[in-house]
Amino acid sequence: MPLRHDVCPASTSPDAVETTATPTSTIDFGPLRISYDGRVLTPRPWTQIQSSWAAELLSHLPEGPVLEICTGAGHIGLLALSMTDRRGVLVDADPVAAQYARSNAETAGLADRVEVRTALAHEAVGRDETFPLAIVDPPWVSSQEVSRFPEDPLLAIDGGADGLAVARECLHAVDACLHDDGAVLLQLGNLTQVAALEEWLEQAGPPHLRVTELRAYEDRGVVVLLRRPEHP
Ligand SMILES: C[S@@+](CC[C@H](N)C(=O)[O-])C[C@H]1O[C@@H](n2cnc3c(N)ncnc32)[C@H](O)[C@@H]1O
Repeated sequence: MPLRHDVCPASTSPDAVETTATPTSTIDFGPLRISYDGRVLTPRPWTQIQSSWAAELLSHLPEGPVLEICTGAGHIGLLALSMTDRRGVLVDADPVAAQYARSNAETAGLADRVEVRTALAHEAVGRDETFPLAIVDPPWVSSQEVSRFPEDPLLAIDGGADGLAVARECLHAVDACLHDDGAVLLQLGNLTQVAALEEWLEQAGPPHLRVTELRAYEDRGVVVLLRRPEHP
């Protein structure tokens, strides 16, 4: 399958995106200074927990780079990488988000360890690539509910009819490149979505992944850990 993504080190800029077209804001995300603007989702402080959980897992996972799909401005993956010496591949369909991920990697001093790809989840990874950890932060608001968040870019929040459409796309993509002993940290909106995802995963066929642990953050969101069904 031909890949239709732009691949480059974080320090280069393949997308003709003007990041100063709208006012740039900055936010501290743990020790990282993250830039973004209104065209991408504003970093949410609670999601630092996804980064620290990733770093915790990485101390036990096989060698290899970290994959983050739906990286936005890159902060969750970058914070995780800053706590390890791993390399990372950060993916987002939105060229503006990808450009911020690149510049934020540079600001964080991580450009030499980070490759940013502007691509849809299902096109982002080559057949010969394997990752021990995937971080996935898909849009998870149902299409019916997106009007409740007029400030947020639609691409960043619209998860389709049940809020799980992009999550399913991402898990199919991850299934194809995850190490047998690998792990996935997936962000969702609530426990109802987790139950629906588990039901879908129980059905025959790929992706061959199961939810093994869950951490919920009040009413803000949920992060689930998925592993291969045969993983002890
Ligand atoms: C919920 S936001 C998460 C962004 C960032 N990780 C954060 O926490 O702020 C979802 C991101 O997924 C990207 N996205 C949406 N659909 C996608 C797809 N099919 N493939 C890859 N990225 C996608 C959006 O551009 C957006 O940046």
